[in-house]
Amino acid sequence: MSLQQVSMTQRSAMGSGSALKIGLFGANCSSGRAVTLVPERWTGDWEDNLRLGQLADEQGLDFLLPVARWKGYGGDTDYQGSTLETLTWATGLLACTRNITVFGTVHAPLFHPVIAAKQFVTADHIGRGRFGLNVVVGWNEDEFTMFGVSQREHQARYAFGQEWVDAVKALWSDREDFDFDGEFIKLKSARAKPKPYGGSRPLMMNAGASPVGRAFAVRNCDAFFTNAPKDAPDVLARHVAEVKEEARQVGREIDVFTVGVVTCRPTAAEAQDYYRHCVIDHADWSAVDAILAKRKVTEASVGAEEFARQRAHQANGMGGLPLIGDPDTVAAELASLSRAGLGGIGISFVNYLEELPYFCAEVLPRLQRLGLRALPQ
Ligand SMILES: Cc1cc2nc3c(=O)[nH]c(=O)nc-3n(C[C@H](O)[C@H](O)[C@H](O)COP(=O)(O)O)c2cc1C
Repeated sequence: MSLQQVSMTQRSAMGSGSALKIGLFGANCSSGRAVTLVPERWTGDWEDNLRLGQLADEQGLDFLLPVARWKGYGGDTDYQGSTLETLTWATGLLACTRNITVFGTVHAPLFHPVIAAKQFVTADHIGRGRFGLNVVVGWNEDEFTMFGVSQREHQARYAFGQEWVDAVKALWSDREDFDFDGEFIKLKSARAKPKPYGGSRPLMMNAGASPVGRAFAVRNCDAFFTNAPKDAPDVLARHVAEVKEEARQVGREIDVFTVGVVTCRPTAAEAQDYYRHCVIDHADWSAVDAILAKRKVTEASVGAEEFARQRAHQANGMGGLPLIGDPDTVAAELASLSRAGLGGIGISFVNYLEELPYFCAEVLPRLQRLGLRALPQ
């Protein structure tokens, strides 16, 4: 049976082809992106992920993006201590959904490119061209130590990442029995079949925050995830325009996305109350401090004021843009991100399954009326 053709344009359109793509971020991890003690915090287990993935697919959301985390952060909840491995998670979800794009997140230094290239292709065939790849080069020393792998210095991580991506793309190409003689990666008489589904390749994304990380994304990726500042649409618009221009200078097009944490309730007061309850009054502060310590952020290193600011920032979705309010407010903030040039957002909730139906029922139709979301099929 011949495979259906899938173009890169179709892949980039993701689930709904909407102007503002919306996906779910971090659901493969216990507690998701909310560093909270509240009992309804996200389990991250497979049954909940399966129900969530199918609900997101039925509601026309565009993508599911996991976090590749190998070791929990500790604290009272062992934040993100239980995580589903992202490639097998994505493959399971692709088998059980129809339209949504599902990303796997891969630490390049921990996965041999020949094995990884075949895992991606397998997931891509199971999803008939809906697999996407988030390439990360790593930052968490503790995790690398667990593998017995030393992290390279920062610039060299991305030099290695570039070779790794080149090797994976060569394995996806029609080249047969080729040698790959890089500084870090050496392959002899390499071949890999089948190729990615439908005559194209999986979407690739990266979220490097440093100049070298951003340059890596611009050279290699279809989507670049960046932090969006709160209430500063002009700053965001300039940043998005710069990234797109950098891509054009190397003959490429790139979409810019961000991540956000949604607390949407019928009234602004209810939303604010729930937000305060989860990520202030009942934050897992010992886990927050452990996350910051891994980044070498302590009261001693940055001073009391900055430390307090970063603590509050981390408790709320580990730094995602807070979108808190009634449906009109949340929809208006999402529309403002779109006007600033963003192509999409990966959102999270304290309990994804309990909160997503309300978001879909109330916020998506508002975005449809603004022309930012495709109408349900
Ligand atoms: C949306 C998003 C997803 C990310 N996913 C992961 C991940 O799953 N695992 C990981 O170790 N790092 C992840 N990161 C961290 C980035 O890959 C990157 O290491 C970080 O932004 C620091 O940038 P730099 O490498 O340019 O210094 C993610 C960051 C963002 C914003």
